[in-house]
Amino acid sequence: MSMADLTTTAAPFKPSARVGRIRPSPSTAAATRAGELKAAGVDLVDLTVGEPDMDTPSVAAEAGIAAIRAGRTRYTPVNGLPELRRAILSRHAADTGIDRVEAEITLGGGGKHVIFSALMAALDPGDEVIIPAPYWVSYPDMVMANDGTPIILTCPQEHGFRLTPGQLEAAITPRTRWLILNNPGNPTGAVYSRAELAALGAVLEAHPHVWVLADEIYDSIWFGEAAPVSFAAAVPHMRDRTLIVNGVSKSHAMTGWRLGWGLGPPPLIRAINTLQSQMSSCPSSVTQMAAVAALSGPQDFSEASRAVYRRRRDLAVAALAQVPGLSVTPSEGAFYLFPNCAGLIGRERPDGAVIANDLDLVVFFLEQGVATIHGAAYGLSPHFRLSIATSDALLAEGCARIAAAAALLR
Ligand SMILES: Cc1ncc(COP(=O)(O)O)c(C=O)c1O
Repeated sequence: MSMADLTTTAAPFKPSARVGRIRPSPSTAAATRAGELKAAGVDLVDLTVGEPDMDTPSVAAEAGIAAIRAGRTRYTPVNGLPELRRAILSRHAADTGIDRVEAEITLGGGGKHVIFSALMAALDPGDEVIIPAPYWVSYPDMVMANDGTPIILTCPQEHGFRLTPGQLEAAITPRTRWLILNNPGNPTGAVYSRAELAALGAVLEAHPHVWVLADEIYDSIWFGEAAPVSFAAAVPHMRDRTLIVNGVSKSHAMTGWRLGWGLGPPPLIRAINTLQSQMSSCPSSVTQMAAVAALSGPQDFSEASRAVYRRRRDLAVAALAQVPGLSVTPSEGAFYLFPNCAGLIGRERPDGAVIANDLDLVVFFLEQGVATIHGAAYGLSPHFRLSIATSDALLAEGCARIAAAAALLR
C-alpha cells in the first residue's frame, strides 16, 4: 500500500470524550517550548523546570545499574518488591511516627500515576473533588479525565495561599468525594502548620463521606524551623479515609526513574492495585531497586539539596523584592516562587501593546530571555511561577532579566 492509499483511506482519529475534556499539562508544554527555543540557539534562562537540577544520588544510580547486571529485570508484584515496601514503610515511620502494614501501600510510575489511579478508583460521574487554588496544574484535568467535577477554592496570597476551614466547610456537598491537599504546595511553596491541618481535619470530622488525598511529594524540601507535618500525623482520626502520596522524584532527584507511592486504607489500596494490575503491572524493577537504596540509610542527599534550595530561595526572593510591581511571598518549601504581578498588569510594552494579564506578561518575559509560567495555569492570577531548581548563577541571571523586563514596562 502506498502512502497516498494510507492518507486517503484512513478515517480521521476521533479522540474519546474523556480526552476532549482535558488539556496537555501547561507546565510540561512551557518547559518543552523553553527547551525548543534554547535548542534553536535562543539565549534563554529557563525557570519553568519542575524537577531537581542535581543528579540522582550515586548510591541509587549504582543500585539501579547493579540491578540490571544481576538480572533483576522482570515483573515484580503489582505493589512492588518486598524490600521496597519495607523501605517505604520505614521511611514513612521515621518521618511521621506512623507504623503501617504492607496492605496500605500502592506503587505507581510516579506520584502522578498514583494520583490518577486513586481518582479513577474512587470517582463516579459527577463526584466532586475540592481543589484549593493555586493548584498543581494536573489536578483539575486528572479529576475531569476520571469523570469528576473539580471544585476550585481560591486561596489568595493574603491568606498565605492556604485553604481555610471556613472555605472547606462551605464547599462540601453530598457529592464531595475528595479534598486534594498539596503540602508543601506547588506552585506557591506554602506549608500548612500542624494546627492548620488539624483545623481542616476538624471540619472533615463532621463529613465522613469526604476523603483526603494528601500530596506530600515535596515534604523533604522545606525552609522553616522544622519539617512539614504529614496530614496523617496531624489528623490521625482521618487515617481510614486519607491517601498520602509521595515518591522519590523530588526528594532524590529521580524524576526520570518514575516511581511514586500511595499510603492509605486497604480497601482503597486494593482498588488502586486492581487498576494498576490492568494498566501497568508494576513500576520498573530496576527503578524499584534504585529506590530501595535511595530510601535506606542516611538521607544526606535530601539534607544537602534542602540547603541548596534554601540558599537559592533567599537569593531569588531578595532579587525579586527589588522589582517594582511584584510582590513575593517567600516560599516555605518545594522549589518554586509564585510572585504576584498585579503591579505590572495594564502597563505598556515598548511596542505599545498592553500587558492585559499574566499570560501576556510571561510572553513578554520570554521575549526578554527568561521563561516562567503564568499564574492562570495554576488557577490564580495575576501571578507567575518560577522554579529555583537551577544553578545560582542562572537563577540570578533569570531574576535580573525579570527585573530588566519589568523596567521596560510603562
Ligand atoms: C504537586 C505535585 N505532585 C505530584 C507530582 C508528580 O511527581 P512524580 O510523578 O514525578 O512523582 C508533581 C510533579 O511536578 C507535583 O508538582
